Amino acid sequence: MFQSLTLLALAAVVSAQTVWDVTVGGAKAGFTFSPSSTTAKNGDIVRFTFAGPMGNHTVTQSTFAAPCTAVDGGFDSGYAPVGLPAGTTTTSQEWNVTITDETKPIWFYCKQALPSPHCLMGMVGAINPPPSGNTIDKFITAAKAVTPFPPQSAGTGPGIAATTSGKPTALTSSSSDTASGTDSATGTNTASGSGTSPSNTGAPGGAAFAQTATSGGAVAAAVLAGVAAFML
Ligand SMILES: *[C@@H]1O[C@H](CO)[C@@H](O)[C@H](O)[C@H]1NC(C)=O
Ligand SMILES: *[C@@H]1O[C@H](CO)[C@@H](O)[C@H](O)[C@H]1NC(C)=O
Repeated sequence: MFQSLTLLALAAVVSAQTVWDVTVGGAKAGFTFSPSSTTAKNGDIVRFTFAGPMGNHTVTQSTFAAPCTAVDGGFDSGYAPVGLPAGTTTTSQEWNVTITDETKPIWFYCKQALPSPHCLMGMVGAINPPPSGNTIDKFITAAKAVTPFPPQSAGTGPGIAATTSGKPTALTSSSSDTASGTDSATGTNTASGSGTSPSNTGAPGGAAFAQTATSGGAVAAAVLAGVAAFML
């Protein structure tokens, strides 16, 4: 899927309008926007892809001075859950920000508070930040120092120095890998249930199968729990 996204990005680059890709969360990026800083011209699109296998993030405009607070008139993608509840099909979502004033820095953050505030973990980013003074590095440091995490509200829009594509949109190419993994774990449970009656006979094949199946299920559950804890 990432290959086709890259091809799409390349195709867009050849046309007049440049599309800059930013990954929101996901297995690779973790609690970050990647890259955290983008330089874009008027009319360019910054395309945010909310990545899987699991996550629930926002792209919310703030100011340099108040990194974790929605700014009046700023944009807000709203929550874009991916792969939730656990075990559902992973479908990435995308959301576009079009630059209307390249001379103004655009600061943004993730307003998700669970399991702990993402902004305070440094999940912030910028478009066209100045190379000195209020830099992206200082913004990340400032976000981590915010205390306490302020009450969150939606941005009032339409965006400062930018406009948006409305609400995040599910990408049509989805990965069903997570879902099929869950399915085999369910089959496993059936096998271990049927193992109750012949357990006294000591049939080696049956016992071995039941053990493998049980530990497989436990591992799958542990992996899902681990992913959930990490990505939320
Ligand atoms: C995403 O996060 C928001 C805010 O914490 C929550 O209200 C919403 O239920 C979450 N969505 C899913 C599908 O978990
Ligand atoms: C975002 O922009 C790209 C490039 O123009 C376009 O292909 C895509 O459909 C847009 N997505 C949304 C949600 O508007």
